[in-house]
Amino acid sequence: MAVESIPKPSMTPEQVAIVKSTAPILKEHGVAITTHFYAAMLAAHPSLHNIFNRANQATGDQPRALASLVFAFAAHADDLPALEPAIRRVVHRHVSLQVQPAHYPIVGEFLIAAVAHILGPDTVTPAVADAWTAAYAVLADIFVSAEADMYRDNQDRVDPVTAHKIWPTPAGHDGWRPFVIQRRVNESPDGRIVSFYLVPQDALPSSSDEGLGPKQHQPLPTFLPGQYISIRVPVPEHGGGKILQPRQYSLSDAPGKDYYRITVKRDVEQHVVAESQQGHHPQVRPAGLVSNILHDNYKEGDIVEVTYPMGEFYPPSKNDEDVLPNGAEKPMVLISAGVGITPVMSILNTVLAAANGSSSEGGGAKRPSSRRSRSSRKAPITWIHGSHSTTARAFHEHVAEVVSAHPGVVSAHLFLTVPPGDSSNTENGVQGREGEGQGHERQKGGLFLDDPTAEYFVCGPRGFMDAVRDYLVEKNGVDEARVFREVFGTGS
Ligand SMILES: Cc1cc2nc3c(=O)[nH]c(=O)nc-3n(C[C@H](O)[C@H](O)[C@H](O)COP(=O)(O)OP(=O)(O)OC[C@H]3O[C@@H](n4cnc5c(N)ncnc54)[C@H](O)[C@@H]3O)c2cc1C
Ligand code: HEM
Repeated sequence: MAVESIPKPSMTPEQVAIVKSTAPILKEHGVAITTHFYAAMLAAHPSLHNIFNRANQATGDQPRALASLVFAFAAHADDLPALEPAIRRVVHRHVSLQVQPAHYPIVGEFLIAAVAHILGPDTVTPAVADAWTAAYAVLADIFVSAEADMYRDNQDRVDPVTAHKIWPTPAGHDGWRPFVIQRRVNESPDGRIVSFYLVPQDALPSSSDEGLGPKQHQPLPTFLPGQYISIRVPVPEHGGGKILQPRQYSLSDAPGKDYYRITVKRDVEQHVVAESQQGHHPQVRPAGLVSNILHDNYKEGDIVEVTYPMGEFYPPSKNDEDVLPNGAEKPMVLISAGVGITPVMSILNTVLAAANGSSSEGGGAKRPSSRRSRSSRKAPITWIHGSHSTTARAFHEHVAEVVSAHPGVVSAHLFLTVPPGDSSNTENGVQGREGEGQGHERQKGGLFLDDPTAEYFVCGPRGFMDAVRDYLVEKNGVDEARVFREVFGTGS
């Protein structure tokens, strides 16, 4: 049978009605269902431990993210375009983690079984089970075909000139390409933020070509500023080092270099107070697994596996839209907190490299527009960064150099959240704890609140991003479509 003639999964109107009417019951038990589902699935298919983030299982973030998308799907079963942005985010994440079509039936089987297990046969009648199975098949089909397009676009793609794959991976590595850590650089005075400069192992003269066939040295595929890669490393703490754990890291420099740079914050143990209906409970959040492994064990010359750059913090559509019809550029406001500085640093460096006429082109599929690259940038860029203290902030010297190299274009503002009275942390005339609102009031001029073309790129902890969004959108009427954000976690 030709591929085009295979019928697409679909739902009958009755099944749509059943899914919509039972969605609230499933939603009520959503986290119980998805938690049961993940535990059962991972027990039956231990190799999936190499894909799923253990911490997101432990905290419930991943079951919650899956449950909320499944229920959003149920609510929009007859209006799927409304779900497109949420679906796109998942597709990027899945492709970054090399989720394959063969995984979908496994997830489907365990998900439907978990629904039946938690809700029981009185609720999950055969008709209800059939309706949800059909719904899952429709959703899975959307993901599988969108993900196939992306795999074709990037790592399966062959360079028409050299006829080599643009993302060569050794046999058995499934899209994970070995990269060598060429350089390690401390980015913050307290040593908690470190950059790793990564180059493909197959691009190094001394590399063995095992599994790659003829030598296939390729320019490093370019990426959009703000995109991330996944890297994965063996975890000695689990499965005797046989379990791999992937994590995403934003690329923190402009494209067009012969390396990918990621910048990783060491996630340390924290004593926090959790709030619940029963009151406040002291809790210990364990030190992060992979960030500590990278900081402690990975030195120059070591190898990590990397997947193709993905993500759309800087939406691909913007490439042709960032110059207004009258030739003017849009003001850009980059707002970050903590290690959220990484993708906005890439955006800053990319925009300025283009304005200076330097090429950001490399091999590969997605290229930032070069329409602007011959002219020097005139439109202002405001850089606002929040850091716990001057010792915790990253890239300080680089930002200072950028400001002095682009007078009248880039202005930078640092906000510190150290306790009041700590005089060692005085900077830019700002001392002590700055509330987010206060910070914004001070910088109102630099926020271009009255300019309907200004765009805002925000990255930091969720609470910080929510506060920035509320300030811009709710309080000052900025169109939400001009506010872009990147979440360093699972779920939006
Ligand atoms: C698109 C994207 C881009 C990113 N870019 C960057 C970047 O540029 N730089 C960067 O440093 N990070 C970035 N991250 C975050 C990064 O992927 C990792 O999440 C981060 O490094 C922490 O990973 P870890 O393995 O060290 O911690 P994990 O082991 O994954 O733990 C994460 C958190 O969960 C908590 N936790 C774990 N287990 C439990 C438990 N049982 N109970 C309660 N809490 C628990 C830990 O205390 C920790 O705070 C990005 C994430 C995404 C999704
Ligand atoms: C229709 C089925 C599926 C739905 C609705 C779904 C939904 C989601 C959602 C909402 C996220 C969070 C994305 C984000 O916020 O960044 C996610 C992430 C993820 N999904 Fe899926 N997914 C499906 C199928 C699969 C399959 C088949 C696999 C592979 C076995 C998979 C593996 C993952 C992984 C590894 C993550 C990243 C989260 C983590 O690291 O823990 N998903 N998915």
